[in-house]
Amino acid sequence: MALWTRCGLVRPWNEPRGDVARALDGDASTILAGVDGGALVGTVMVGHDGHRGWLYYLAVTPDRRGEGLGRALVRAAEEWLRERGAPKIQLMVRDGNEAAIGFYESLGYSNQGVVVLGRFLDPELEARRRAGA
Ligand SMILES: CC(C)(COP(=O)(O)OP(=O)(O)OC[C@H]1O[C@@H](n2cnc3c(N)ncnc32)[C@H](O)[C@@H]1OP(=O)(O)O)[C@@H](O)C(=O)NCCC(=O)NCCS
Repeated sequence: MALWTRCGLVRPWNEPRGDVARALDGDASTILAGVDGGALVGTVMVGHDGHRGWLYYLAVTPDRRGEGLGRALVRAAEEWLRERGAPKIQLMVRDGNEAAIGFYESLGYSNQGVVVLGRFLDPELEARRRAGA
Protein backbone atom coordinates (compact mmCIF):
# COMPACT_ATOMS: atom_id res chain seq x y z
CA MET A 1 0.00 0.00 0.00
CA ALA A 2 2.92 2.34 0.71
CA LEU A 3 4.29 1.59 -2.75
CA TRP A 4 0.93 2.34 -4.36
CA THR A 5 0.72 5.64 -2.49
CA ARG A 6 4.30 6.52 -3.52
CA CYS A 7 3.41 5.70 -7.13
CA GLY A 8 0.36 7.98 -7.11
CA LEU A 9 -2.19 5.21 -7.47
CA VAL A 10 -4.23 5.86 -4.33
CA ARG A 11 -7.03 8.43 -4.21
CA PRO A 12 -8.94 9.64 -1.10
CA TRP A 13 -11.95 7.50 -2.10
CA ASN A 14 -9.83 4.34 -2.50
CA GLU A 15 -9.55 1.75 0.23
CA PRO A 16 -6.37 -0.12 -0.62
CA ARG A 17 -6.50 -2.23 2.54
CA GLY A 18 -9.93 -3.56 1.56
CA ASP A 19 -8.74 -4.05 -2.02
CA VAL A 20 -5.81 -6.15 -0.78
CA ALA A 21 -8.04 -8.28 1.45
CA ARG A 22 -10.57 -8.91 -1.31
CA ALA A 23 -7.90 -9.67 -3.92
CA LEU A 24 -6.22 -12.24 -1.68
CA ASP A 25 -9.50 -13.82 -0.55
CA GLY A 26 -10.49 -16.53 -3.04
CA ASP A 27 -8.86 -17.94 -6.11
CA ALA A 28 -10.24 -15.57 -8.78
CA SER A 29 -7.72 -12.85 -7.99
CA THR A 30 -4.34 -12.23 -6.44
CA ILE A 31 -1.53 -9.73 -6.10
CA LEU A 32 1.77 -10.58 -7.75
CA ALA A 33 4.85 -9.02 -6.22
CA GLY A 34 8.28 -8.29 -7.64
CA VAL A 35 10.84 -8.90 -4.94
CA ASP A 36 14.56 -8.25 -5.20
CA GLY A 37 16.89 -9.06 -2.32
CA GLY A 38 13.96 -9.10 0.08
CA ALA A 39 12.73 -5.68 -1.03
CA LEU A 40 9.39 -5.12 -2.72
CA VAL A 41 10.07 -3.47 -6.09
CA GLY A 42 6.72 -3.81 -7.81
CA THR A 43 3.19 -5.16 -7.74
CA VAL A 44 0.26 -5.95 -9.94
CA MET A 45 -3.22 -7.00 -8.86
CA VAL A 46 -4.85 -9.46 -11.25
CA GLY A 47 -8.28 -10.99 -11.31
CA HIS A 48 -10.71 -12.89 -13.47
CA ASP A 49 -14.41 -12.02 -13.30
CA GLY A 50 -15.50 -15.07 -15.32
CA HIS A 51 -15.57 -13.08 -18.57
CA ARG A 52 -12.43 -10.96 -18.68
CA GLY A 53 -9.17 -10.64 -16.87
CA TRP A 54 -8.39 -7.33 -15.18
CA LEU A 55 -5.21 -5.64 -13.99
CA TYR A 56 -5.03 -3.10 -11.18
CA TYR A 57 -2.33 -1.46 -9.06
CA LEU A 58 0.56 -2.00 -11.46
CA ALA A 59 3.42 -0.18 -9.77
CA VAL A 60 7.21 -0.22 -9.90
CA THR A 61 9.16 1.60 -7.22
CA PRO A 62 10.39 4.91 -8.70
CA ASP A 63 14.12 4.16 -8.39
CA ARG A 64 13.78 0.87 -10.27
CA ARG A 65 11.84 2.02 -13.33
CA GLY A 66 13.08 1.45 -16.86
CA GLU A 67 14.61 -1.93 -16.03
CA GLY A 68 11.83 -4.08 -17.45
CA LEU A 69 10.14 -4.79 -14.12
CA GLY A 70 6.79 -3.35 -15.21
CA ARG A 71 6.85 -5.49 -18.33
CA ALA A 72 7.74 -8.59 -16.29
CA LEU A 73 4.84 -7.96 -13.91
CA VAL A 74 2.36 -7.52 -16.75
CA ARG A 75 3.63 -10.67 -18.49
CA ALA A 76 3.32 -12.61 -15.21
CA ALA A 77 -0.26 -11.38 -14.79
CA GLU A 78 -1.04 -12.39 -18.38
CA GLU A 79 0.33 -15.86 -17.66
CA TRP A 80 -1.73 -16.09 -14.45
CA LEU A 81 -4.88 -15.32 -16.47
CA ARG A 82 -3.94 -17.60 -19.36
CA GLU A 83 -3.60 -20.51 -16.93
CA ARG A 84 -7.17 -19.81 -15.76
CA GLY A 85 -8.62 -19.72 -19.28
CA ALA A 86 -9.29 -15.98 -19.48
CA PRO A 87 -9.54 -15.02 -23.16
CA LYS A 88 -8.92 -11.31 -22.67
CA ILE A 89 -7.06 -8.95 -20.39
CA GLN A 90 -7.88 -5.31 -19.82
CA LEU A 91 -7.27 -2.45 -17.46
CA MET A 92 -8.26 1.13 -16.78
CA VAL A 93 -5.90 4.09 -16.93
CA ARG A 94 -6.85 7.32 -15.20
CA ASP A 95 -7.23 10.46 -17.32
CA GLY A 96 -3.90 12.24 -17.54
CA ASN A 97 -1.70 9.18 -17.05
CA GLU A 98 -0.26 9.32 -20.56
CA ALA A 99 2.94 7.59 -19.43
CA ALA A 100 0.98 4.48 -18.46
CA ILE A 101 -0.78 4.48 -21.82
CA GLY A 102 2.60 4.67 -23.61
CA PHE A 103 3.91 1.85 -21.44
CA TYR A 104 0.94 -0.42 -22.14
CA GLU A 105 0.96 0.38 -25.86
CA SER A 106 4.59 -0.71 -26.01
CA LEU A 107 3.43 -4.07 -24.60
CA GLY A 108 0.81 -4.51 -27.34
CA TYR A 109 -2.25 -3.07 -25.58
CA SER A 110 -4.60 -0.68 -27.38
CA ASN A 111 -7.49 1.64 -26.64
CA GLN A 112 -10.64 -0.49 -26.76
CA GLY A 113 -12.96 2.41 -27.53
CA VAL A 114 -15.12 2.06 -24.46
CA VAL A 115 -16.14 4.55 -21.79
CA VAL A 116 -16.14 3.18 -18.25
CA LEU A 117 -19.06 4.32 -16.10
CA GLY A 118 -19.26 3.52 -12.43
CA ARG A 119 -20.27 4.58 -8.98
CA PHE A 120 -19.58 3.40 -5.48
CA LEU A 121 -22.30 1.32 -3.84
CA ASP A 122 -21.17 2.75 -0.49
CA PRO A 123 -22.69 6.29 -0.35
CA GLU A 124 -19.83 7.55 1.82
CA LEU A 125 -17.21 6.48 -0.72
CA GLU A 126 -19.30 7.95 -3.55
CA ALA A 127 -19.49 11.27 -1.69
CA ARG A 128 -15.72 11.19 -1.15
CA ARG A 129 -15.13 10.53 -4.84
CA ARG A 130 -17.41 13.38 -5.89
CA ALA A 131 -15.73 15.74 -3.44
CA GLY A 132 -12.30 14.83 -4.84
CA ALA A 133 -13.27 14.77 -8.52
C1 LIG B 1 4.03 2.19 -15.60
C2 LIG B 1 5.18 1.51 -14.83
C3 LIG B 1 4.64 0.32 -14.06
C4 LIG B 1 6.24 1.05 -15.84
O1 LIG B 1 7.22 0.30 -15.14
P1 LIG B 1 8.74 0.15 -15.66
O2 LIG B 1 9.36 -0.94 -14.87
O3 LIG B 1 9.41 1.47 -15.63
O4 LIG B 1 8.53 -0.28 -17.18
P2 LIG B 1 9.51 -1.21 -18.05
O5 LIG B 1 10.92 -0.86 -17.72
O6 LIG B 1 9.11 -2.63 -17.84
O7 LIG B 1 9.14 -0.75 -19.51
C5 LIG B 1 8.64 -1.69 -20.45
C6 LIG B 1 8.59 -1.03 -21.80
O8 LIG B 1 7.68 0.06 -21.78
C7 LIG B 1 8.31 1.20 -22.36
N1 LIG B 1 7.74 2.38 -21.76
C8 LIG B 1 7.73 2.69 -20.45
N2 LIG B 1 7.12 3.89 -20.28
C9 LIG B 1 6.77 4.31 -21.53
C10 LIG B 1 6.11 5.48 -22.03
N3 LIG B 1 5.68 6.45 -21.23
N4 LIG B 1 5.91 5.58 -23.35
C11 LIG B 1 6.32 4.61 -24.19
N5 LIG B 1 6.96 3.48 -23.77
C12 LIG B 1 7.17 3.35 -22.46
C13 LIG B 1 9.76 1.01 -22.04
O9 LIG B 1 10.54 1.79 -22.91
C14 LIG B 1 9.94 -0.47 -22.22
O10 LIG B 1 10.11 -0.81 -23.59
P3 LIG B 1 11.54 -1.29 -24.13
O11 LIG B 1 11.97 -2.42 -23.23
O12 LIG B 1 11.23 -1.70 -25.51
O13 LIG B 1 12.40 -0.09 -23.98
C15 LIG B 1 5.87 2.52 -13.85
O14 LIG B 1 6.25 3.66 -14.57
C16 LIG B 1 4.99 2.96 -12.68
O15 LIG B 1 4.97 2.33 -11.63
N6 LIG B 1 4.26 4.10 -12.86
C17 LIG B 1 3.44 4.65 -11.78
C18 LIG B 1 2.20 3.83 -11.52
C19 LIG B 1 1.29 3.75 -12.74
O16 LIG B 1 1.01 4.72 -13.42
N7 LIG B 1 0.78 2.51 -13.00
C20 LIG B 1 -0.14 2.22 -14.08
C21 LIG B 1 -1.52 2.53 -13.65
S1 LIG B 1 -2.69 2.26 -14.96
